[in-house]
Amino acid sequence: MNFRTTTILVWLTAGTLCFLSVVTAYGGPPPVVPPGLPPVEAPADNPMTPEKIELGKLLYFDPRLSKDGTISCATCHNPKEGWSERRSTSKGIKGQIGSRNSPTVINSAYHRAQFWDGRAATLEEQALGPIENPIEMGHKLEDVVKELTAIPEYTKRFQAVFGTGVTKDGIGKAIAAFERTILSGNSPYDRFKAGDETALTDAQKRGMQLFTKKGKCALCHTPPTFSNGRYSNAGVDAGKPKPDPGRHDVTKKDRDFGKFRTPHLRDLVDTGPYFHDGSAKTLEDAVALMADGGKDNPHLSSMMKGVRRAKLTDQDRKDLVEFLKALSGQYPVIEPPKLP
Ligand code: HEC
Ligand code: HEC
Repeated sequence: MNFRTTTILVWLTAGTLCFLSVVTAYGGPPPVVPPGLPPVEAPADNPMTPEKIELGKLLYFDPRLSKDGTISCATCHNPKEGWSERRSTSKGIKGQIGSRNSPTVINSAYHRAQFWDGRAATLEEQALGPIENPIEMGHKLEDVVKELTAIPEYTKRFQAVFGTGVTKDGIGKAIAAFERTILSGNSPYDRFKAGDETALTDAQKRGMQLFTKKGKCALCHTPPTFSNGRYSNAGVDAGKPKPDPGRHDVTKKDRDFGKFRTPHLRDLVDTGPYFHDGSAKTLEDAVALMADGGKDNPHLSSMMKGVRRAKLTDQDRKDLVEFLKALSGQYPVIEPPKLP
């Protein structure tokens, strides 16, 4: 065997091993990640399989997860409204209004922690929260388990996927596996990064420069997901009689008061209104507050003050908005499935 054949063989073996390890990690084919996005990692104890994803999809759209059978995950994270909803803050069972804006489920697979304040570590853990939240779905998990157990199609599917009956652990895992398939990439920005010079307009190219350099936006909104996963205070609540404590609720540390996790910025065109309280109606409004360096309050993040010093002009702000539009990509829009 000459040197070249050996090298080719080594590469082929390495490639096959790599592929096999990915396939085993997911217990099935890995999710198809659109161009521009990093690989999706599922926890070791919740590999993704087509059957589990399908079960998760049914649960996601099933209003029987709520106490009065009226609200499903899709009510507040509607595929046709960018997997979020066109309301400032959410409305749960019996018309109760919450205090926070429903974030999109798109690319939530990449968040290091879930919720505006990062109080859930994983999608598995997050999924069970709204079911028991009294103003969201207001149900008891043990009752949900009982009710789903009475539906033969669900017991059959849980058996096939987990080898058990219906469990709350299984509900969380199946929904999380489904959510990990809701990805958006291949935006004009991604195509530009991949070498297509024509993918961005001139305004968008100027906006991209401002975003990374003068405006300092990328320090927090770091590509490719456009979040660094950290928490900052931008003063969105400043001046309210009862500001949302945000991250402080989780850590109880004074310095975390009014801090929220940096949101992703993909698909903003479809996911307004913006901010944790949905107080910015338009993308222009949201960019204006950020470009102003947030609103004054005793806990304003020093990095927001850095943005303020950049003194972004009206033209800069317009270009930033245009750039953000270039982050809108292609994500699945799923019709509600026929429920068992
Ligand atoms: C009544 C509306 C409502 C329902 C129903 C609801 N959610 Fe949410 N969801 C929200 C709101 C509001 C938040 C943000 C709450 C917070 O940060 O404190 C949220 C946060 C999330 C997040 C975190 C996203 C991020 O960026 O951190 C995920 C994921 C999610 N929900 C998935 C689900 C799933 C799965 C279900 C069904 C089991 C569900 N939601 C049901 C309103 C709702
Ligand atoms: C210090 C970190 C930081 C910097 C710098 C920063 N942001 Fe933000 N951004 C945040 C945080 C945190 C939020 C959420 C604030 C809230 O809801 O209370 C946010 C929210 C946003 C939103 C709303 C997204 C949504 O889904 O609700 C937009 C748009 C945005 N930022 C754009 C920008 C732009 C443009 C710049 C640069 C001019 C910028 N940001 C600079 C941290 C930052």
